[in-house]
Amino acid sequence: MESYTVKPAVSVRGEISVPGDKSISHRSIMLGSLANGITTVSGFLRGEDNMATLNAFRQMGVVVEDDGTTLRIHGRGLHGLTEPEDMLDCGNSGTSIRLLTGLLAGQSFFSVLTGDKYLRKRPMKRVVTPLAAMGARIAGRAGGEKAPLAITGSKLQGISYSSPIASAQVKSAILLAGLYAEGETSVSEPHLSRDHSERMLKHFGADIVSSGAVATVRGGRELQGRDIVVPGDISSAAFFIVAALIVPGSELLIRGVGVNPTRTGIIDILRKMGGKISLLDEREVSGEPVAELPGRSSELRGIEIGGDLIPRAIDEFPVLCIAAATANGRTVVRDAHELRVKETDRIKAMADNLRLAGVEVEETEDGMIFQGGAVISRFVADSCGDHRIAMSMLIASLVAKGECTINDTECIATSFPNFKALLDQVAVR
Ligand code: S3P
Repeated sequence: MESYTVKPAVSVRGEISVPGDKSISHRSIMLGSLANGITTVSGFLRGEDNMATLNAFRQMGVVVEDDGTTLRIHGRGLHGLTEPEDMLDCGNSGTSIRLLTGLLAGQSFFSVLTGDKYLRKRPMKRVVTPLAAMGARIAGRAGGEKAPLAITGSKLQGISYSSPIASAQVKSAILLAGLYAEGETSVSEPHLSRDHSERMLKHFGADIVSSGAVATVRGGRELQGRDIVVPGDISSAAFFIVAALIVPGSELLIRGVGVNPTRTGIIDILRKMGGKISLLDEREVSGEPVAELPGRSSELRGIEIGGDLIPRAIDEFPVLCIAAATANGRTVVRDAHELRVKETDRIKAMADNLRLAGVEVEETEDGMIFQGGAVISRFVADSCGDHRIAMSMLIASLVAKGECTINDTECIATSFPNFKALLDQVAVR
């Protein structure tokens, strides 16, 4: 088991770029593979999750050339994938397994999706149930709730699905199945979740429209290969933003970060807390907004967080916990039940780890309550096999009262392989 023992920082300073957006990287492989012609992808995130998606498509006959900087995907058209000879291993990646379930439901072949011990515990009925309503034939453990999932490709019918949760994985699985369905497929959500699928489907020429929290795709239209430039992942930038805000004397510039409004909840929350962070030089790249993010040390104060801010910051809660713990005053997080079914139960994992660091924190069914003003004592943390828990506790260690240890850190490679190197580059110790 790999672990890191790290010293606190006196400040965080410099200028960095973070690796490519994980969600957009997954989708670039998927749509590039289904398109006609060549798709190039630069800025692709070479984390384990995205490599799992890439390998799955290679197993289905897609040729992807990789010169180390740019991927060249030889698209096979909507109906050009071939039956994989073996199971498709999605590793730790919820996005791979759920989106692939939708995409594979309408193929003319059989496939099996599986993943690591964490992924095999995560709920799959949220995609299996609506896909079955479209005519998909999917079997899995626990009555179709858990992977491995066995998919017998079949003819699909469009549906109009009202999703009980704001989940981009659920929405995207249904929209990808919708590419193969007869007629229109429509998904509505209680709050708009990240809309990278809708944007990229449009970019590739799909027949898709979206309005508010409803997206509708019409099946059958072929996609055309495109050039994709993947922006920096705001979920990766979040660790460094929080570091710059909470460590005194810090000033950090993060370049080329994706600032899609369905993802910028972290910026809105931190600004509400008094965080000094700006968006500069906003521009659009491959259908996605991108900006430079400068941030510096701030006096943070506790706030209440819930409602539509939750899906807009869903992956950032572990690191937001560090900001909330050290801010002045109480922070209440509610409506965040989804955190309990991420790579691990993130409410429990953060509460357990922060208590070990001397933080006063209460778990609720759908969130957490922080009393604020915590002094982080020396701690030994456990990542619970979750990359974002590991990285968040590394950020906590920057303001701790001594050397800290974070155990089980291999998982960081799923989304941010150079995280530790980048942190060591900007943390002045
Ligand atoms: C993702 C959607 C979110 C997010 C995950 C990536 C995606 O999951 O937490 O890290 O790329 O669609 P949910 O759809 O389960 O909210």
